[in-house]
Amino acid sequence: MKAFITGISGQDGYYLSKFLLEKGYEVHGIIRRSSSINTSRIDPLIAEYEKIEKLFLYHSDLLDASSLSSLINKIEPDEIYNLAAQSHVKVSFENPIYTTQVGTLGSISLLEAIRHSENPSKFYQASSSEMFGGVDNKSLNDESIFIPKSPYAVSKVFAHQITTVYRESYGLYGVNGILFNHESPKRGETFVTRKITRAVGRISEGIQEKVSLGNIEAIRDWGFAGDYVEGMWMMMQQDTPDDWVLATGEAHSVKEFLEEAFNQVNLNWEDYVEISERHFRPNEVEHLLGDASKAKKELGWSPKTTFKDLVKMMVEEDLKLAKQEKVLLDNQLIKPTWENSI
Ligand code: NAP
Ligand code: GDD
Repeated sequence: MKAFITGISGQDGYYLSKFLLEKGYEVHGIIRRSSSINTSRIDPLIAEYEKIEKLFLYHSDLLDASSLSSLINKIEPDEIYNLAAQSHVKVSFENPIYTTQVGTLGSISLLEAIRHSENPSKFYQASSSEMFGGVDNKSLNDESIFIPKSPYAVSKVFAHQITTVYRESYGLYGVNGILFNHESPKRGETFVTRKITRAVGRISEGIQEKVSLGNIEAIRDWGFAGDYVEGMWMMMQQDTPDDWVLATGEAHSVKEFLEEAFNQVNLNWEDYVEISERHFRPNEVEHLLGDASKAKKELGWSPKTTFKDLVKMMVEEDLKLAKQEKVLLDNQLIKPTWENSI
């Protein structure tokens, strides 16, 4: 089996490609050309699988429809996972046009390439719980209405709907995985959970004093990314394509995450957190809680990692990183830039 993954260098790209490679898939992924190397998450996979011709990387971009189409024609993948996005909600207010271009053109370019191909690949679209807007504390499923509150969420609604349109109009195998927040030690460091666990590691090592946050009353349904990529794959193995929600069904506030993370190192979060206006968004998604009962019933998927285990896993990894950073700092090999973190 051959898979083609956009966003392979991101958090989910790492876990999904690892999962597929371990299943024996040949994995093809696109990375963006950058002035510095941007494959740090997948470097261990490159070391293990590139030489044995199981993992293949190409320079491309979701905004380059021609490059995507020629890669798909050349590779003829069985499955395409569209994970690439400008995925930071707050940044989408700062770069709304770029976020929209990537979110919308990327999905339709891939769908067009599939539609014109002789052996149409199955298509997975990384849809998001952000599309729901989180206006109340109801549990959300694939029939809940979308009330997007950011340029990011609006672009995800487009990609979601166009995948449905291609499925219904052309009979393509297109699925939307509506995933609630999922985190890991590979999570980008500007998302709130990782920002917190990175800070906990460094504060515990005495190399950071405070962490600056925004709305800590916000509530999310946080799961582990490693569990969620298995659900993505399961969606692609069904007889009939559809949309499924993946979530834990448990909601926690950012405050609760802080409490759990600082508890791991026996510190009181209130001594280390400052609230800054610059981390608030022009429009906030206050509450997200997912109902994954359809995925449980039809795919046999359920999350394996609890909230407590997730926080523990992230703090443990970030303690290791902070210890390494402390050695580098002590030897004046790096400077502490993290207090300025966005
Ligand atoms: P992530 O860590 O931010 O990774 C995003 C990936 O997209 C990176 O590989 C990035 O490349 C790539 N990318 C960005 N712009 C691109 C472009 N113009 N062309 C090609 N590649 C581009 O995100 P993630 O957490 O893995 O999430 C994966 C997908 O699921 C995203 O679409 C996200 O919106 C969606 N999603 C995530 C969650 C969640 O909680 N994690 C929940 C629901 C939906 P660089 O490495 O070069 O930046
Ligand atoms: N990033 C960040 N930084 N968020 C903060 C901070 C901070 O300093 N302080 C409070 N928050 C709050 C945000 O306002 C938001 O309500 C919540 O913490 C979670 O923020 P993020 O971790 O940035 O994630 P997100 O929920 O906005 O978006 C993530 O999940 C979506 C799925 O619902 C991203 O992964 C999206 O790509 C994904 O679609």
